[in-house]
Amino acid sequence: MKTPCSLIAVRCPAKLNLFLEVLGRRADGYHELDTVMQAVDLYDELLVTPLDGEGVWLSCSEPSLPTDEGNVVVRAALALRERTGCRRGARVALTKRIPMQAGLGGGSSDAAGTLVGLNAAWGLGLTARELCEVAAAVGSDVAFFLGGGTARCTGRGERVEPLDVKGGFHYVLVCPPFGVSTREAYGRLGALTSGRASASILLGSLAAGSIEEAGLGLFNRLEDATFALRPELRAVKERMAHTGVFAGVCMTGSGSGIFGLCRPDEWERSREAAAGLRAGRVFAVRSILRGVERRPEGRTTK
Ligand code: C5P
Repeated sequence: MKTPCSLIAVRCPAKLNLFLEVLGRRADGYHELDTVMQAVDLYDELLVTPLDGEGVWLSCSEPSLPTDEGNVVVRAALALRERTGCRRGARVALTKRIPMQAGLGGGSSDAAGTLVGLNAAWGLGLTARELCEVAAAVGSDVAFFLGGGTARCTGRGERVEPLDVKGGFHYVLVCPPFGVSTREAYGRLGALTSGRASASILLGSLAAGSIEEAGLGLFNRLEDATFALRPELRAVKERMAHTGVFAGVCMTGSGSGIFGLCRPDEWERSREAAAGLRAGRVFAVRSILRGVERRPEGRTTK
């Protein structure tokens, strides 16, 4: 046990899938993945206060989100209590900035932030490896956000292998005014053929810091399934590609977010080109080396 803390602020980044191949269907209903995830500097924020009672009370800036066990933040808190036998409660205030149902992993990142925040607030002293085990049980992407940075993730997505990347990468993200259900997108995946995309071009170019080559290596197997649900997203991707400013354009996760990889000196021009499409909210984001992170109190993020 460690000394409990009274108020913990945690910032929870978004992710982009730079590569996502579906290797097969599993008996448990999930899909076996090979994906490269990149944490980026767009953040949700959590304020965690420990309580003496047993309740976990969530409040959220986004009224459409549930604040009971329908919210993965509450499920993460309960999973941590279950794992450790801790009998304390908590108040958690969540400020959403990451667009939802956009393939950016916001809910998973919030869950990872909850585990880190409550591990400190309750003075549990779980190691990174122990937190990873709890994270994997809470959701497929949650473990990635504990370490963040750039990682190759396999299994359901919960087996995380950190990658070294040369330099930072700049992206422009377009989030159309509607979301896509991950479950529905996976449900639309047709029969998996034997052909498999390889992550090797992307991995080599990330290690070398080669933007043009990385642009060619971007890939997402879920695009066809999501575009069948929402044909207008294929048009967003094509229109972004036709601007000619991006080294590559790809969907993240199961959508609806579409991102372009930018040449660093053309980041602003790329943002303007994407905004000119009037396809949704536009974010200029950068790769970051970390995942969820405790913040000194009183500091705010962008
Ligand atoms: O694990 P998580 O709750 O984030 O997954 C949401 C849904 O996405 C699952 O219920 C499942 O339908 C689908 N999924 C999948 N294979 C994965 C990850 C998610 O089929 N590897």
